[in-house]
Amino acid sequence: MAYGSGGSSAICMEGGNRLTGTVQIQGSKNAALPILAASVLIPDECVLKNVPCITDIDCMGNLLKSTGAVLDWQEHTLLIDAENIREYRLPARYVSAMRSSVVLMGALLGRVGEVLVDYPGGCVIGKRPIDLHLFGLEKLGAQIWTDKNRIHAYADELKGTTISFPFPSVGATQNTILAAVTARGTTVIQNAAREPEVTTLCDFLNKAGARIEIGYDFIATGKIVIHGVEVSALHGVTYEIIPDRIVAGTYLFAALGAGGSITLENAPVGQLRSVCALARRMGAVVESDEGQNQIAVRTDKYGRMKNVAFVETGVYPEFPTDLQSPLLACACVSEGELTIEERIFSSRFKVVEELVRMGADIEVLNNKRVHVRGVERLLGRSVIAKELRGGAALVIAGLAAEGITTVTDIGFIKRGYQDIVGDLKGLGARISYVD
Ligand code: UD1
Repeated sequence: MAYGSGGSSAICMEGGNRLTGTVQIQGSKNAALPILAASVLIPDECVLKNVPCITDIDCMGNLLKSTGAVLDWQEHTLLIDAENIREYRLPARYVSAMRSSVVLMGALLGRVGEVLVDYPGGCVIGKRPIDLHLFGLEKLGAQIWTDKNRIHAYADELKGTTISFPFPSVGATQNTILAAVTARGTTVIQNAAREPEVTTLCDFLNKAGARIEIGYDFIATGKIVIHGVEVSALHGVTYEIIPDRIVAGTYLFAALGAGGSITLENAPVGQLRSVCALARRMGAVVESDEGQNQIAVRTDKYGRMKNVAFVETGVYPEFPTDLQSPLLACACVSEGELTIEERIFSSRFKVVEELVRMGADIEVLNNKRVHVRGVERLLGRSVIAKELRGGAALVIAGLAAEGITTVTDIGFIKRGYQDIVGDLKGLGARISYVD
């Protein structure tokens, strides 16, 4: 896989330039990861298109290879041949690097009836237990042993049942779906996550021969019905990964922070309603064309954005937690004050310290709330990315700041953005990778 960012370790930019032009939105990381995991269920060759070239995908690819799958990259197209899956033990170095490796549990249980895995890693954004994942798998009949470091799951046969999640976890829903696809009988999931990354996984699996029903009442109830099929009934499929709503939202907030007039192309318009509504309330002109997958964002040439009083993150279709830090960066240079409440993760404000070093006026009220008083300008500084979306937020802050900003430790950013510098340069930003 060829990354747009090469082997660079930092991003350097000179702020103060309005963004103009058009940017193509990459394929979605969070949609692609569970679909790659799902491919181990299918004893055939799948062709995935529009796969983003990011390190998390590379990591999932290595995990698939370790199970016996054969992978072949052709630009953004990934061929996965999972005819011969032999290995149920997943290598610790990949599992500990990425939390979504945990969704391989459901897929491997469904395919080979066993999985041995270390506790998964991922960005440090508060407590990230996996109790709901294990709850779903156990309900389907898996026996699970855990110790301090590892999880061992085994099932002679998975059996369909009714599973009602106390909280609609995205990963736990995906894991349970993956295990239920080849379980005997019918599984009903209640209060499943409604995120587009769940529905696209079901769509992919159905095209590959699974029998998953998502009814008209899905958004209201989170009900998913899965009729189990034999592994041999699953077959190869060619599937296009949906565009990344979080990358699209990141560039939208970059334009709001730095000012500008940009068009997001290949953007998932319908998935960004809450984000576009907020941008409008902050004073941007946002025009979207669902047929053309385009969102045009324009800010006033002479004024700053205006903060709304309060924004809370929530499960889909509410404002996404992954755009909380990009919004925060933009709010720092907008007029007025904003309180953000983070309702999904227990501690997702690591970026605050770095933004404050750039001159932002932010008070952390508690683990869940921050209060921002907009300042007229941020000052360019050397700052450190500490997690993926917080890292992207520092790039947004750098573009809005006066002077030169260097963001280091961009390994976190490369987990999710295939070429953030190339994309922003295409919008006229003065930005480059540095070694
Ligand atoms: C996914 C996304 C992530 C996004 C999040 C919420 C991927 C690879 N990542 O993460 O970018 O921010 O959805 O939209 O798709 N929880 C438990 N027990 C569990 C599982 C989750 O308590 O077993 C808690 C988590 O700690 C967190 C909340 O539920 O506080 C949401 O987590 P979840 O929806 O599972 O997010 P992820 O699937 O990890």
